[in-house]
Amino acid sequence: MKIIRAKDYYDMSRKAANIISAQIIMKPDCVIGLATGSTPIGTYDQLVEWYKKGDLDFAQVTTINLDEYRGVTKDDPHSYYYFMRDKLFSKVNIDPTRTHIPDGMDEDAEHACRSYDEIIKRCGGIDLQLLGLGHNGHIGFNEPGTAFEAQTHLVNLTETTKKANQRFFENEENVPSQAYTMGIKSIMQAKKIVVVVSGQDKAEALRAAVKGAITPNVQASVLQLHNDVTIVADVEACSLLED
Ligand code: GLP
Repeated sequence: MKIIRAKDYYDMSRKAANIISAQIIMKPDCVIGLATGSTPIGTYDQLVEWYKKGDLDFAQVTTINLDEYRGVTKDDPHSYYYFMRDKLFSKVNIDPTRTHIPDGMDEDAEHACRSYDEIIKRCGGIDLQLLGLGHNGHIGFNEPGTAFEAQTHLVNLTETTKKANQRFFENEENVPSQAYTMGIKSIMQAKKIVVVVSGQDKAEALRAAVKGAITPNVQASVLQLHNDVTIVADVEACSLLED
């Protein structure tokens, strides 16, 4: 694992965006796995800025998002579909037919999950996967205890996750209790993984992921087994990594 220590959130965002833009420049028709949450927002802002300057071209890029809330429509501002359109897709020249997010409105969980696995397969695998880190060490919505072999599946969100994501909703009751997420197996098959981590409140999760035992109880700890992981974390998030 390579750890890049950034000065602050802005520096972290620019460094992560640099890695993603290098990927797009080196392979214009690459497949990029994307994440939601507040951490990658600065990274997306930076990519949009470089696109506007003419330095980046998304015309041939394919994207596969990690997850989506179940039962939330695409037009609902809380959906990850809406988030991605708002933060990135509507601001760059990406072909909407090349963007993929699990269908949160598919009530048939088995169908929703298998269809998404098919999409991942059809895209030929992920060149670069961007990840955030949950407070409980989750990646995507892979909650503690999930088998590392899992593919796309329906998740019952833990109370910790619902609390953490409550800030995006009016109150805790409005936070969906289920989501569809790409499984660890697909994430681990990505050729390259970039994790963005910011803030003191993520320091313990990052320490457990990087220095702790490899265990399903800390889903991100599986990344220790991947041969090309770059963690871009700010000083506060790195505060528990020193020996
Ligand atoms: C959600 C998302 C994750 C994300 C995590 C952390 O649970 N499903 O993909 O990494 O939140 O979000 P934040 O970056 O807002 O702390």
